[in-house]
Parts: sequence; C-alpha cells; structure tokens
Amino acid sequence: MDDTLILGIETSCDETAAAVLRGGRRLLSHVVSSQTETHAVFGGVVPEIASREHCLRLGPVVREALTQAGVGFGDLSAVAVTYGPGLVGSLLVGVSGAKAMAFAAGKPLVAVNHLEAHIYANFLEHPDLEFPLLALLVSGGHTHLILLSGHLRYRVLGRTRDDAAGEAFDKVARALGLGYPGGPLLEQAARDGDPAAFAFPRAALEPGSWDFSFSGLKSAVLNSLNRARLKGEDLKVADVAASFQQAVVDILARKTVAALEATGVRTLALGGGVAANQALRRRLRAETEARGVAFVYPAPVYCTDNGAMVAMCGHWRYLASSFADWRLNAVPGLILHDFYKENRKM
Ligand code: KG4
Ligand code: ZN
Repeated sequence: MDDTLILGIETSCDETAAAVLRGGRRLLSHVVSSQTETHAVFGGVVPEIASREHCLRLGPVVREALTQAGVGFGDLSAVAVTYGPGLVGSLLVGVSGAKAMAFAAGKPLVAVNHLEAHIYANFLEHPDLEFPLLALLVSGGHTHLILLSGHLRYRVLGRTRDDAAGEAFDKVARALGLGYPGGPLLEQAARDGDPAAFAFPRAALEPGSWDFSFSGLKSAVLNSLNRARLKGEDLKVADVAASFQQAVVDILARKTVAALEATGVRTLALGGGVAANQALRRRLRAETEARGVAFVYPAPVYCTDNGAMVAMCGHWRYLASSFADWRLNAVPGLILHDFYKENRKM
C-alpha cells in the first residue's frame, strides 16, 4: 500500500496555501488563506504586500493543515513546494519556509512547477486518469496546451503569444468597472447578457499553430467601450461581458479540439483559475462528448491556487525520486519543459 504523506505548500501569488495528501489519493487537509481582500483596494496584487502577507500567514496555514490532517512533521514523507513561475518575493517565502521545515524535520524537499501543479489538480478527484492526456491550462499568467505522455512528461503544444486568458478576463472586467478579481465577476455579469451582441475577433493565427492570442480581442473590447463613451452611448455591460466571454471560449475550444483531433488523444483535462468558468466547461463538455473523448476538470476550489495540487504533483515527484537540494531557489519565469530538463540534472 502506498502510504506516502506529502505536505504541499503554495505561495506563488496571493494565496497562502497548504495541504496534506496520503498515498496520492486521500486529501487529509486543505487550507487556503486568500489575500484577495487585502489587494482589492488596489485593483490588483501588490507584490511587496503579498510577500509580507505570506510571511505572516505561512506558519499558521501549515500548522492548521497538519492539525486538520492529524499528523506532525515527523510523519511526513516529504515537503513539496511551488518554486515558480510566480511573483519572486511570494515564491521565496514558500521556498524558504519549505526548506526550513524539511531541513528541520529531516525530510526530503520536492520542487513543484506551478503550471504542472494546476494540471495535477485533476488527479485529486480522478487519481486513475490515464495517459496520454491533453491538458488545457488557463490561469491568470499562462495559457498552454500540453500533451502528457505519462506522469511528469510534458510536451507544450501551444501557448499564448501575448495575454493569458485570465489576464484578458481581468483587464476587460476592470474596464467594465466590475472590480477585482475580474474573472469570476465577469462570468457573473455575463449571465444576463447576449453572447452574440458584439462580434469580437477570434484570432486564429497561422494554420497548424496551436498557439493562442488574446490581445486583439482585449483591444477590440476596450475600443468598443471607448468609442461608446466618446459618443455618450450606454453599452450594456452584460452584453459586452457575455460577448467577450464567448470569444475567449471559442478561441480556447477551437484550438483544443484541433489538438485533440490531430493527436488522437482521448482524454482532456482542464486546469488553472479560468477552468472554474462554467461557459468554458459547458463548451468543452459538448465538444468532447460529440467526439467520445473523456473530459475532466477540478472542482472550483482546486482550479484556483491551492496546496492540494502541489501535494498531488509532489506525490508523483516523490515516487520518481525527483528531489530538490537545499540550494533550491525561486524561479519567477520558470517554464514547463525547463523544469523537466532541470530535474533530470538534479
Ligand atoms: O490559477 P490562478 O488562481 O492563478 C494563476 O496561476 O494565475 O488563476 C487566476 C485567474 C485570474 O485571472 C482570474 O480572473 C481567473 O483565473 N478566474 C476566472 C474565473 N475564476 C478565476 N476567469 C474566468 N471565469 C472564472 N470563473
Ligand atoms: Zn495558479
């Protein structure tokens, strides 16, 4: 029986989170301390404040995760931590804290890439997911189409050339005066809107490419708003939100379907904050059902940043003996295949 016990720590942006996972299957605890309210008055995350908040919250969050799980440091198999990509100061708090805890407890340290953690969130509820699988990762900082041939084996098929999907949601939400964080508020506003009210552009890029682009769409929405303001017209916020959301969903779904068809992969997994979006889930469910492709996505609490996904990925790295040494540093610009290459050298 696999009775590994992994503590997962996440501090890459504005969530201080920790979780304890047993045997890669049983989540014993899952604690998230969100700084959303602290940053909301500034309309976005203030990095220095985020780092300071992580310093204050990390200890209590880890203690609560261990207490809820009914375990102590001595029971752990390893401490897994996100070391990139993200805000350097925020990452440093998690990495330094995890190193100190692992060193003091005499446990191995496991370094997890935040992007792979978002994909691994799917294994929390579907531990027996089979490979190969295609992952659509849509977060505030990244938009990637990734092919997994096995655990920890990634090939990035496509990525955004400009804005990330979540970033576009946040910027359009801000322009519409919806507040922060933009994604969920925009989705809410779009509920009463007509998705066909505005014909916003869907950049397709050159044939054969699985890359994405959202900056043209974002500019088109902002231009429509500015034009209307200059003319003194009143645009219906719900219609703009619904039409924008529909365009994002179209862009993401078209490339994902094209990649599924070209690769013949029979399983699609969704990950990252934007994976919580119901319109995106509905569309991908319809597309995959029509093709007999299995479709999984994490529960909303595991779509946004959390420690459980770090523990889940850490579990597989632990089984693969993929350990970090005490020189581990935060890597704010970490990319996915870099991690794999780096790890083979460790
Ligand atoms: O994965 P995440 O928590 O952090 C990053 O790693 O970036 O993703 C946060 C992003 C934000 O841009 C947020 O607006 C977006 O995910 N988001 C959503 C929804 N919930 C969160 N976007 C669209 N619809 C949602 N329901
Ligand atoms: Zn994230």
